Amino acid sequence: METKLVEGVHWVGHVDWSVRDFHGYTTERGSTYNAYVVEARKVALIDTVKGAYAGELLEHVRALVPLERVDYIVCNHAEPDHAGGLPQVVRACPNAAVVCNAKCKDALEHHFDVSGWRFQVVADTATLDLGGKTLQFFDTPMVHWPESMATYLVEDAVLFSMDAFGQHYASTHRFDDEADLCEVMQEAKTYYANIVLPLGRSVAATLARLGGLRLAIVAPSHGVIWRSHFAKILEAYQAWMVSKPTRKVVILFSSMWNSTRRMAEAVAAGAQELPVDVKLIDAATMSDTHVVSEVMDCAAFAAGSATLNMSILPRMAASLTYLRGLKPLNKACFAFGSYGWAAKGCEEVAHYLQAMQMRPVCEPVACRFVPDAAVLERCRAAGRALAEVARQV
Ligand code: FEO
Repeated sequence: METKLVEGVHWVGHVDWSVRDFHGYTTERGSTYNAYVVEARKVALIDTVKGAYAGELLEHVRALVPLERVDYIVCNHAEPDHAGGLPQVVRACPNAAVVCNAKCKDALEHHFDVSGWRFQVVADTATLDLGGKTLQFFDTPMVHWPESMATYLVEDAVLFSMDAFGQHYASTHRFDDEADLCEVMQEAKTYYANIVLPLGRSVAATLARLGGLRLAIVAPSHGVIWRSHFAKILEAYQAWMVSKPTRKVVILFSSMWNSTRRMAEAVAAGAQELPVDVKLIDAATMSDTHVVSEVMDCAAFAAGSATLNMSILPRMAASLTYLRGLKPLNKACFAFGSYGWAAKGCEEVAHYLQAMQMRPVCEPVACRFVPDAAVLERCRAAGRALAEVARQV
């Protein structure tokens, strides 16, 4: 497995083939926790890995340089998938200072017993001379946490971009031109939708700040390293971070005795009368991870639930709660659902859509027990209205 980025710079992380749940995000293709060694007259380790894999990381480092030679451990981000291994690594590298910004130091102090750690706190744009190679640090707040930072290797134009441009993607390949680029881009989109989506403004600010740097290689903290196709992921980010809609209508439903399903199918039938993509999703059949990936770039979104116990069905509640937290923007919407004696399901769905500042194309449609032809026609009309919005993007 090739691990060399440029002369003196190597990947030393962990490929996690087994992880399938990353704080609620379904990681069907596993992940990697990327860490890097930069060797000049001095040696820096950029980030660590989850705590369980710190021993493996140290083996990778030891294969390149004695641990006594590590002068700096740069901590770009305090989240445990990157800093979890820090206590073991600090213990194993007796001559290393932990290099991080002030917010990160504070976060690390709230995660670990840092007594005995030697910190070197760096300000935004500060540089660190390794003797032949220079690191420069850029604060990237809220990409992904407040203390997040990116590290730039000046002479080789390598940006260690932390979570930005990452993918939860396990592979024997470390580089974008070795892996299946279609899979990589799918996972980059899923990663953006599930991790980065509510942080679009922060990402835009970061890209504006770092846009002036010469970039030969962009090395994120998850997934493959971009050395050949960075323009492709950058173009995708530029669309995702402004929530640029595509000609797609997504209809998400949860049904009890098929009434809400028939309403959803009528919405889909109406939408399909126009030349747009239509996705009809039974919430019971798709993980929230993939639901949000579909919704992220749609122009129009319909959601429907049967009423259960004066509320919505649990699966729909889970999907809408997850979506609401990730704040998808710029959507037209429609709420619908069936009920028996209290039209609460449709009402609650409409509240979720309102909380996400979606724009209704018409009044919600609630149906008592089983939809008749008139109800189904109202649903078809709503589908046409959603598709009309999508067609115009
Ligand atoms: Fe991959 Fe925000 O940690």
